[in-house]
Amino acid sequence: MTDLSFSCSERLLERALKTIPLGSQTFSKSYKHYPKGGSPFFAEKGKGPYLFDVDGNQFIDMVNGLAAVTLGYCDPDVDTAIIKQVEKGVIFSLSNELEALLAEKIAQLIPCAEMSRFGKNGSDATTAAIRLSRAYTGRDEVAVCGYHGWHDWYIGSTDKKLGVPEATQSLTHKFQFNNIDSLEALFKKRKDKIAAVILEPMNITYPEADFLPGVKALCQEYGAVLVFDETVTGFRFDLGGAQKIFGVTPDLATFGKGIANGMPLSVVTGKKEIMQLLDEVFFSFTYGGELLSIAAALATIEKLEKQSGIQKITTYGTQLKEGLEALISQFSCSDFLSVSGNPVWSFFNIHVDEPEELYLWKTLYMQETLKRGLITLGSHNLTLSHDEGVIERVLAIYAEVIEVFARAKSKGGPGSFLHVDSLTPLFSVRKKD
Ligand SMILES: Cc1ncc(COP(=O)(O)O)c(C=O)c1O
Repeated sequence: MTDLSFSCSERLLERALKTIPLGSQTFSKSYKHYPKGGSPFFAEKGKGPYLFDVDGNQFIDMVNGLAAVTLGYCDPDVDTAIIKQVEKGVIFSLSNELEALLAEKIAQLIPCAEMSRFGKNGSDATTAAIRLSRAYTGRDEVAVCGYHGWHDWYIGSTDKKLGVPEATQSLTHKFQFNNIDSLEALFKKRKDKIAAVILEPMNITYPEADFLPGVKALCQEYGAVLVFDETVTGFRFDLGGAQKIFGVTPDLATFGKGIANGMPLSVVTGKKEIMQLLDEVFFSFTYGGELLSIAAALATIEKLEKQSGIQKITTYGTQLKEGLEALISQFSCSDFLSVSGNPVWSFFNIHVDEPEELYLWKTLYMQETLKRGLITLGSHNLTLSHDEGVIERVLAIYAEVIEVFARAKSKGGPGSFLHVDSLTPLFSVRKKD
């Protein structure tokens, strides 16, 4: 292991901060997540499972554009589909057949999908689902559980509510994953007021067997629309989404991220009876039918189908999860480290109650993984390019990182092991049990 230099990244960050608030377009890519003194801040290019930063350092990437990439960077088949479409045109003054082709494909694959509309970011799709639910039920309030994007109706229910009117904040209520009583109590308290229940069918932990069926039953009893936010789980857990795996079909679902291997595309889909309201409910923007992303989505889905992509990613992810569990146990760290989640989207968890101390451990995690050429924010957003060989290398890196964790624990904490600036507690909505 040689010490990596991040001088170009550091200079570029200083420069970017003069003209770009946060220095980045996306909160989770910003310097707030990467400890200064041991982190890259700017990427130059990617290929397969690798990211190359502006200093020429190469990393195995487990972030993958915040789970937007499912096949790997610069996938040749997707790139060919994009280039073919570029030669015809990126966007036109009229709609194009590719839109119908993709909507038909989604209807074939996803249990709840009868009709679909496309957006660019996941937030477009979740907001469309909520507006549709409000129009369909004639109600205003929403029950949420997890992260659903940057728009007012959701973000107003979190610590990041600055700038959201109080009237909007008051319409959104939280309930807890795997706690059906918390949702039932909400329905009882806000009788006939809740238009929609929106949740990720899974993130850090698996849903208990009766949780998702219970959520659906409560929605039916109280007349609310059930929305699965499959922005991450879609086209990753299964081509039919998490709803297919768990056998619970929602009224509406939203997709984004991995559907187009990094091109900006999101989808709101679901029952015709509700979706048809989009004839009147306004969901319209200039780039809604941008064709490079739709061509990329068709090529991504075709490749995942033809190469049994999801099964392969699941196999690589299982190798990673099992390897990590073995390492945690080998270094006797099970009392404060664990791995959870679906193999295609697994989480390295550090169980420390006190937030300041937790962020020291997170800083140590970033310091030790980055210097060994692994980039991760604590989750493993696998792609088809993260094959057995790549996972073996990731596990070799983790063997060293977990050994450092064990030593730090035995010496009273991570403080004296840090040679980078410590991270400070950050906005987070996916809670560990
Ligand atoms: C579950 C979930 N829903 C919605 C969103 C919002 O998607 P976007 O950032 O593309 O607007 C995200 C983004 O991380 C997400 O993870």
